[in-house]
Amino acid sequence: MSQARGEWSSKLGFIFAAAGSAIGLGNIWRFPYLVGENGGAAFVLLYILFVIVIGLPYMFGELALGRFVQRNPVGAIQAIRPGSAWKWVGYLGVFTGVGILSFYGVIAGWTVAYIYKMAVGSFGGFGELISDPLAVSLLFAFFILLTSAIVYGGVSGGIERWSKILMPVLFLLLFGLIVYSVLLDGASAGLKFYLNPDFSKITGRVVLAALGQAFFSLSLGMGLMITYGSYMSKKEDLTSSGLYVGLFDTMVAFMAGLIIFPALFAMGENPAAGPGLVFVIFPKLFAQMPGGQIVGVLFFILLAIAALTSTISLLEVPVAFMVDEHKAPRKKIVWAVAGVTFIFGLPSALSQGASEYFTNFGLIPGRLTDPDFLSQMSFLWGDFSLAFGALMLSIFIGWVWGADKAADEIESGATGFGKLRGLWIFMIRYFIPLVIFIILLNLFGLFN
Ligand code: TRP
Repeated sequence: MSQARGEWSSKLGFIFAAAGSAIGLGNIWRFPYLVGENGGAAFVLLYILFVIVIGLPYMFGELALGRFVQRNPVGAIQAIRPGSAWKWVGYLGVFTGVGILSFYGVIAGWTVAYIYKMAVGSFGGFGELISDPLAVSLLFAFFILLTSAIVYGGVSGGIERWSKILMPVLFLLLFGLIVYSVLLDGASAGLKFYLNPDFSKITGRVVLAALGQAFFSLSLGMGLMITYGSYMSKKEDLTSSGLYVGLFDTMVAFMAGLIIFPALFAMGENPAAGPGLVFVIFPKLFAQMPGGQIVGVLFFILLAIAALTSTISLLEVPVAFMVDEHKAPRKKIVWAVAGVTFIFGLPSALSQGASEYFTNFGLIPGRLTDPDFLSQMSFLWGDFSLAFGALMLSIFIGWVWGADKAADEIESGATGFGKLRGLWIFMIRYFIPLVIFIILLNLFGLFN
């Protein structure tokens, strides 16, 4: 069974692939703009706190379930509670993979366009690009094809091999950019904003934004870590592997901020510019920096690489489900899921000005999200579905499967987990579900 499904070839294989999934547009595009909007260093500290006290213990739960049953999210749940309605939590994870990929792939496509734009010295024109129907559709298709070609190769042949190459390249690029950025005139104001906390900036909304970002960034809540955990060996210490993933993910987000804020402040730009930060403000900065064209090309290559190792993981969940549960041939299934994702994502691609109908779609009330189809999908799958999935999965792991059995699985191969066992059981059964429940209430605007 495990032979046919594939397994990571080494401990490093899992760490690279899972860190590749976690590190993405969430770290380099979303994290900095949230920091900018939510007051800087205090948000950074809160975010790190939530990664440690909620994200990591929850991640151990998903990994343990996946390794215990050696299955995708649906199969994992059915192996524990055959024939129960809990399987719908697994299906939700599979749909969420396609749902997130359908809009994430669109934004990832823009990053590819920006590599080209920087290379030819075109620093403006964000609005024109994202409202050109042919350009956005082709870019989206290109990114989905690229993702499929890698997932096509299977677990260790494709995902692991590519992540091993791509992740170190990303780290090197980031280091270079940090050095460049902090040496700019006026960079110190940015470092102060980013590193010197002003605790009066912390409000209920800021707390919840930090918590939500911790889940999205660590790729939690849709069973991705169940799927990647299922390719792990029983001998492996999943706590130390999970800690590495959390550390790398947090480091990359932190490094992105170290590039972005010194540069922003050096240019006298507004840190609270919102989601357009990367695509609008950055090219402006590159245009004015000496050597900015080269920095711009490097930056968008880096962003595209980070997005690619995340889209790989998003595609892997539905593919693993079809391979395990429907005995479908992996190679055919990759193209089928990619095709469905492309059709499902086209309205998102066309919703930034290309199509009037999808630009003002407005199904979900305006107080929750913007009316364009892409923002609606981002809210539905990236916020609501992940939070709801994580709530249900923590209850499933802590109460249905049983926190004791989960803790036994974590202990297999682990050193030093014994002392924290009681604490972990408390977290997965009470603390984590309660905190996620509060995030969900916030998504519905109860605290506004
Ligand atoms: N974590 C990725 C990012 O930060 C996004 C992502 C990839 C994701 N796979 C996921 C989020 C699975 C939740 C679940 O960009």
